Amino acid sequence: MHIIVTGGAGYIGTHTCLELLQSGHAVTVIDNLSNSCQEALRRVERLAGRSLRFFPADLTDPAAVDDIFRQSRDAAAVIHFAGLKAVGESAVKPLLYYHNNLTGTINLCQAMQRHGVKNLVFSSSATVYGDPASVPIREDFPLGTCTNPYARTKAMIEDILRDLHRADAAWNIALLRYFNPVGAHESGEIGEDPNGIPNNLMPYIAQVAVGRLPQLAVFGNDYPTADGTGVRDFIHVVDLAVGHLRALEKLAQQPGVAAYNLGTGHGCSVLELIAAFEKASGRKIPYRITPRRPGDIACCYADPSLAQRELRWKAERDVAAMCADTWNWQSKNPNGYRSDAG
Ligand code: NAD
Ligand code: UD1
Repeated sequence: MHIIVTGGAGYIGTHTCLELLQSGHAVTVIDNLSNSCQEALRRVERLAGRSLRFFPADLTDPAAVDDIFRQSRDAAAVIHFAGLKAVGESAVKPLLYYHNNLTGTINLCQAMQRHGVKNLVFSSSATVYGDPASVPIREDFPLGTCTNPYARTKAMIEDILRDLHRADAAWNIALLRYFNPVGAHESGEIGEDPNGIPNNLMPYIAQVAVGRLPQLAVFGNDYPTADGTGVRDFIHVVDLAVGHLRALEKLAQQPGVAAYNLGTGHGCSVLELIAAFEKASGRKIPYRITPRRPGDIACCYADPSLAQRELRWKAERDVAAMCADTWNWQSKNPNGYRSDAG
């Protein structure tokens, strides 16, 4: 199949493009490189031994998007990763986030409609559940109160896509709610390369381990969890990427619109992740306990059984593999993709 991948140069996008190419699919990437670089796509091509087609375009430009679809007559489906994702920045620049994420998605769907491509996989997030009443979280839990504009863009886009299907049943849409993607391809050639100081736990730990940052701050040890630190469902990015291929197969059965949790079903605390990373890397991770980060919840992990039943997908890689692969990527590329680019 020919798959259009928006945001394909980013962290999850590159890993998914690689799985698509390795499974024999043709891939067209649309990315404005606002949070990524073309070197990442070159490495994907090298790993796959095949090339993909790349359009450096912005989804907020409807003419550019339409033109790409005009040049992609045999496209069967779209995987839509493109979006801005920094929670803190979204509170400071809400209009940027609403414009980029919502307008970008609407332009994309309009072009898809115009060109008769009505199969879509969308990157949603466990953040749409807010602070869940209990764990593990099932897809039929009520969608929670979002605490920031980024989270609201995900909840709003889910609503828009459900409305689109209600208006035209020919649309088939998988809303994939990711838990906490971490790790890297086992080659160490592609991985997460955040701009500036990382906001998220795993890339922060990795940069401390490699000596780019001096110390980790653990945001609170007074949560009602076993060791007092936050508990999350970390999922290996390659497992996540494979989940997108299973979702595409599901769309071929014309299921309408459906939401799926992509997580392992296991909770891991901040202190447990630090210990696992120390073991994988052989490096000490200095840390200090600081107050809670506003908006954080105590505990969040998935019930992934719906994806297992309906997508025939299950996460295979454990926390040890997530840490080993993150360390392999970070130690081979201490400055991310810039190491090679100079
Ligand atoms: P990323 O920033 O690495 O990738 C997103 C890509 O989209 C980047 O390459 C960026 O340049 C591109 N992009 C952004 N706006 C664009 C636009 N208007 N036009 C064209 N390209 C644009 O992020 P990621 O971690 O790979 O996340 C991918 C998707 O998954 C995002 O939608 C994100 O919100 C969602 N998600 C990520 C996580 C996570 O922890 N990484 C968790 C849940 C959901
Ligand atoms: C973050 C996003 C969320 C997104 C999710 C996907 C924030 C506030 N939320 O969630 O919208 O859907 O990623 O991956 O960014 N921690 C530390 N020190 C750090 C960083 C984090 O102790 O330097 C702790 C946090 O308090 C939390 C855990 O580590 O308990 C995980 O944090 P993080 O990696 O930022 O992910 P989430 O907060 O789950």
